[in-house]
Amino acid sequence: MQMTDLLIKKRDGLALSTEEIAWMIAGYTRREIPDYQMSAMCMAILLRGMDERETLDMTVAMMRSGDVIDLSPIRGVKADKHSTGGVGDKTSLVLCPMVAAAGLKIAKMSGRGLGHTGGTIDKLESFPGFTTELSEEQFFQNVNDIGIAIIGQTADLVPADKKLYALRDVTGTVPSIPLIVSSIMSKKLASGADVIVLDVKCGDGAFMKTEAQARELAEGLTRIGRLAGKKCAAVITDMDQPLGRAVGNALEVREAIAVLRGEEKGELLELCLTLGSLMLCEAGFDQSVESARERLLGVIADGSALRKLAELVEAQGGDARAVWEPALLPTAEFRLEVAAAESGYVRHIRAEEVGLVSMQLGGGRAKKGDAIDHSVGVVLNKKVGDFAARGESLGTVHASDPAKAEKAAELLRGCFVLSEEPVEKPAFIKAVVR
Ligand code: URA
Repeated sequence: MQMTDLLIKKRDGLALSTEEIAWMIAGYTRREIPDYQMSAMCMAILLRGMDERETLDMTVAMMRSGDVIDLSPIRGVKADKHSTGGVGDKTSLVLCPMVAAAGLKIAKMSGRGLGHTGGTIDKLESFPGFTTELSEEQFFQNVNDIGIAIIGQTADLVPADKKLYALRDVTGTVPSIPLIVSSIMSKKLASGADVIVLDVKCGDGAFMKTEAQARELAEGLTRIGRLAGKKCAAVITDMDQPLGRAVGNALEVREAIAVLRGEEKGELLELCLTLGSLMLCEAGFDQSVESARERLLGVIADGSALRKLAELVEAQGGDARAVWEPALLPTAEFRLEVAAAESGYVRHIRAEEVGLVSMQLGGGRAKKGDAIDHSVGVVLNKKVGDFAARGESLGTVHASDPAKAEKAAELLRGCFVLSEEPVEKPAFIKAVVR
């Protein structure tokens, strides 16, 4: 086979065969196909598209480029979730213990944060001593014993995606639905769960700007998941502002604990109830999302979801006392309120920039391997639709020194777009795709 022939075929709008796709991905992973040819292929796919069969073949070929995790030593239905990336997205910290308390098995691989987005592992490492370095046997045992374990991605999980994503990032070929679907689903399939729910973000802070684009992606992801033999569902959620109030590792853990305690009832709870009830229905635990929702509200009300978080933290070496006493989590020395310069209604909060403020405070990484400060970040005191009187606090900066706090406060003020006219609170969950 010749890569040039495949390029010409795709350039002319023809479909690549299963064998051609498998050959191309294997060759690229082994460095036998150079970046310049693969760049041209990504652009041809972006412009010409791929049909469903090609997208499935691409997903499976990428999945097979590295480790494929076999979760069969774990008893019961294994569930996983994926989000297309958000600022302040602490969903896994609430959702995973909640559904594990309801009886699903969570054997999850998560990532670390980079740039403006945070990672679940960094957030969990806010618990002193928490480690994700478990052996495979320990990982399986923890899930069998307590229903939940969260580890880092193995180095060899979908190596084809690591190379391809880096290439797409510098060749303008990220926003192609078949390329995004195969990138996300190859990693989810390689991670081995039976049930996969996806949170597809839509809006200014997401790469799917419109609901129509987000729906196309959500439908593509769930269709490919189902064709690969998984139970799959997706929600489309608004990303015109950060999710919830806290952005920064320990601050987000505190917010997650408040939700699991039943004290915080906003969009984060709503998202977790929606994703969680889809998981329970897809797993066959419930016949209707209404009964699944009741079950999940039950594990919050009786404290079992919060206890599950404590069990997870303890089983992975962390100080679980912090679940009951969040004051034991890392706490920043300085706090600064960001006062509104004028009165107005919050029209928009620039999510990506809020993520960058937290990163500059030391809460995120500019490059892989950088150390982070778990205590710092920001808490939003106003959200889209709220009215802020002049001088009222829009947000609170948590910083390790006063100079950094001042700078972050200025930047955070610039993230808020106010309007004189009243602003309706946006619908957070825009659609469910099953
Ligand atoms: N997230 C991924 O993992 N891959 C993409 O292509 C886009 C978002």
